[in-house]
Amino acid sequence: MQGFDFILFGATGDLAMRKIFPSLYQAHIDGFLPSIGRILATSRSAFNTEQFIEELSSKSKIHIKNCVDKKWEEFTHGICYLSINLNDEKDFIALKERIGDKSQNIVIYFSISPEFFMQACKNLALVGLNRDNVKIILEKPLGMDLHSCQVINNEIAKYYDEKQIYRIDHYLGKESIQNLLILRAFNPIFASLWNRKHIDYVEISVFETLGVESRGEFYDNTGALRDMVQNHILQILSLVAMKIPPNLDAESIRKAKLELLKALKPLGDENIAKDVIRAQYIKSGNFKAYLAEDNIKENSQTETFVAIKAEILDDNWRGVPFYIRTGKRMADSFAQIVIQFKNKESLKPHSNKLIIHLQPDNQISLNLSVKKNGKTMKCEEKDLILNLNNTFIMQPYERLILDAIEGNQASFNHKEELEVAWAWVDPILENWREHKTPLYFYPAGSLGPKESFELIKKDGYEWHNF
Ligand code: BG6
Repeated sequence: MQGFDFILFGATGDLAMRKIFPSLYQAHIDGFLPSIGRILATSRSAFNTEQFIEELSSKSKIHIKNCVDKKWEEFTHGICYLSINLNDEKDFIALKERIGDKSQNIVIYFSISPEFFMQACKNLALVGLNRDNVKIILEKPLGMDLHSCQVINNEIAKYYDEKQIYRIDHYLGKESIQNLLILRAFNPIFASLWNRKHIDYVEISVFETLGVESRGEFYDNTGALRDMVQNHILQILSLVAMKIPPNLDAESIRKAKLELLKALKPLGDENIAKDVIRAQYIKSGNFKAYLAEDNIKENSQTETFVAIKAEILDDNWRGVPFYIRTGKRMADSFAQIVIQFKNKESLKPHSNKLIIHLQPDNQISLNLSVKKNGKTMKCEEKDLILNLNNTFIMQPYERLILDAIEGNQASFNHKEELEVAWAWVDPILENWREHKTPLYFYPAGSLGPKESFELIKKDGYEWHNF
């Protein structure tokens, strides 16, 4: 692996302390971080390197399991700090001087709010930090709707070529999500069954027991549709349903996902009224209501739960419902995909399905009908379970940062993917803005509003809950 210079904007922020530095440290102790490399931390705060390392050690180390002091020292030894005001060209000249001219592989991570991306890019370009040897990693959320996403993408494109831009969706760095591709591409038994002829419906659920925690202000302006569906869930859906390209290189994978996203049936007001459920959690037991969380606007209509019946208008999937749902303050934390194969009437509704558990366990179970033991020819359902949990699970940020250093874009979003996803989500946002469909409610710590159960039940199915 070649050497690198890793420049982090927003180095004192929450994400940097919770995820980025712990991942870099993990990559260091796993031996994956090239030894010829430098980490340059930047933010507005007026620290010197020593003070920054002190701050980093007090905040980041707590997020690292089994931190070994000697290794930590070794790791932080390679970090230096530079205070940068994103509006000040002089600071960028200083940054460029600090990096020098020899570096062949510069990775710049923007762990800052997207409204500052453009200013940062402009100033980086001014000092030549946009040449071919530079890559930029952009954190989500990229925009609040299609228009704002396009504005960011177009502005950045003035300074960086698409092949230099790495848009993060950390779900794409998860072991269990990466496995979807392998599972589909290398098991012909599934490939021949993976279509409307054999599949009845698909269900994708991502539930969290967490509420909005300390992110009230951010979340209240965002909501579950923007926070989870537009990115993570549509990415999972595209990996489940896209055509597997002959080559699994970055360009082919991203193209296949894009094609799938473009085939999503657009949702107009009529479909939204029938097929989209939004809801917010209310007080229950020891959990407070969403409206009582810190920094939430009075009478906020922000949704903390979404369920959608989606459809894909291509020859493979036309007519197969894809039920997706996500929520905060749910009864349990889990993410899973259920592929329900078409079944004999007598066996309906549940046998013969493949469940891909994404988290907390990485596990695949195939539900089969088998003969009941004894003097009977009756059948019963049993699960064939493949447990993929491992002691060594690489964390998404570690993998994605290493991919960016190596120049592998396969697990990052192309600009068009995000724009097409926003184009699908935009009519829902508009419908809600104009209060055309109601906001429902569910008790905190439950499985969601009754309307979400009705959404799937009216088609004769039931959600699978852990
Ligand atoms: C983030 C969302 O992108 O994903 C959070 O902003 C959410 O609201 C998180 O909690 C979920 O990620 P994970 O990896 O914990 O499932």
